[in-house]
Amino acid sequence: MFRTNNELMMKARDGGYAVGAFNTNNLEITKAIFRAASEEQSPIILAVSPSAAKYAGMENLVAMARIAAEETGVPVSVHLDHGTEFEHLVHAVRAGFSSIMFDGSKHPYEENVRLTQEAVKLGHAAGISVEGELGRLVGTEDAISVSEREASMTNPDQALDYVERTGIDALAVSIGNAHGWYKGKPQLDFKRLEAIRNKIGDKALLVLHGASGIPDEDIRTAGSLGVTKINIDTEIRDAFKRGITQFIQENPDVIDPRKLLKPAMDEMVKIVGGKIKLFGSAGKATETMAYMAGGVAE
Ligand code: G3H
Ligand code: 13P
Ligand code: ZN
Repeated sequence: MFRTNNELMMKARDGGYAVGAFNTNNLEITKAIFRAASEEQSPIILAVSPSAAKYAGMENLVAMARIAAEETGVPVSVHLDHGTEFEHLVHAVRAGFSSIMFDGSKHPYEENVRLTQEAVKLGHAAGISVEGELGRLVGTEDAISVSEREASMTNPDQALDYVERTGIDALAVSIGNAHGWYKGKPQLDFKRLEAIRNKIGDKALLVLHGASGIPDEDIRTAGSLGVTKINIDTEIRDAFKRGITQFIQENPDVIDPRKLLKPAMDEMVKIVGGKIKLFGSAGKATETMAYMAGGVAE
């Protein structure tokens, strides 16, 4: 049985650590994420984007996660990442996801509020967690001015309004974080993160997207300021490519897909395991189960 993001993140908030949300696209990535979670005895969030679902089949990914969750025994939430259309959310609920993200960040504010309210109605009726996003994650490739960059970030006052009016469980913030590799050192606005935290208090949990390439000390700072879910995709993709590329260079005649994909999995396990340790969730699997059994997260 999957746990909700809320359960895993509330335990993390009480324990002063963050849970990793790792994106999967296929069997090998899913297995690698679970192997790392099992080795580190950590709760994890398995993130599935609409395009990952389109590629692999949402039901296939859920079925793999269900089997891996049973085999490993670690607490797992299966989460829809960046659902932008209502159909994505409904499909995820029907497929058995335990959390959904509605990403309405491309819409004007009032439209984002209205659509997020609908997403919350759906998610909560299904008994699962709902994440919303306020502010826009500007791409690392986007050439934008300082004022445009500022304008794309989450406004703390608006964050409180958004959280109160939508009833979301978790808020994805924009504080200078971006998807993909950063050009140079990421410039995260921690003052803004702190102001958001102070404004919304315990009304919603905080999420940091685009965490690949963020230096360890900045990840720790984000955790200390109340972020309890941290999203990683790009570093997993990079590990996949590195593992397979190196193996093919050294073994150009091998064609067995299992032999080609094993080093990719090994590299991904190392990356995910490292992030789990960095986020502080290593060794928290058993106490998370006990916490949930005690009903504290209700
Ligand atoms: O934040 C987005 C994730 O990296 C998923 O990317 O839509 O290419 O699967 P994707
Ligand atoms: P990265 O690909 O930058 O790690 O971002 C992951 C993410 O935010 C998924 O929602
Ligand atoms: Zn994201």
